[in-house]
Amino acid sequence: MSEENLTGQYEETYESLIEGLLNQGFGVRHNLLDETTIVALRTNLLAHYAAGEMYPAGIGRKFDFQQNAEVRGDVIKWIEKDSTDPAELILMDKIRSFIEYLNRTCYTGINDFEFHYAYYKPGSFYKRHLDQFKSDRGRLFSLVTYLNDDWQESDGGNLSIYLKDDIKEDLYPIAGRTVFFKSDEIEHEVYAAPNRFRLSIAGWLKRV
Ligand code: OGA
Ligand code: MN
Repeated sequence: MSEENLTGQYEETYESLIEGLLNQGFGVRHNLLDETTIVALRTNLLAHYAAGEMYPAGIGRKFDFQQNAEVRGDVIKWIEKDSTDPAELILMDKIRSFIEYLNRTCYTGINDFEFHYAYYKPGSFYKRHLDQFKSDRGRLFSLVTYLNDDWQESDGGNLSIYLKDDIKEDLYPIAGRTVFFKSDEIEHEVYAAPNRFRLSIAGWLKRV
């Protein structure tokens, strides 16, 4: 495929994520990252978990920093900007390219990003929340990609997105699915998967 066609194909994906966000409050796509990259990222995540390199995240920043398993039970590992891991490089290339598209077409002024791996052990959850902290308004957009092979609705583990009038949209964390929404507007919640661990990469496009 020519470079031009490849660019066009990505732009169609970006456009559809943006249109979803504008029209229904969130965008969903399954082809932001190719399957090989998804598998490699899953392998990385499981290796980090097995090596004991993942820790509970704080909730909020600075003065309101706290670790509270009543609110949030996942363990995370931040992806380093100077990573040389091939799959993480592909992920960050794609994020930069999406940011470039957003800034060019929507004047979003994004100038930074942060992403982490997340491991939810069976039964763990993240209660209803917004992604933008009171003490850190830099997060503009949330972008979550799932890494779970063969996920069934009966496994649970859905992301519930709360829209206007408390209409709730349930999205299951199937491998390769990416969800995109505004960090300061969309309340959302991760439900427990009672019998399975749940793997994702969650991240934020920021203006700092
Ligand atoms: C988060 C989050 C959603 C998910 O990490 O802030 O809401 O489905 N993650 O993993
Ligand atoms: Mn969140």
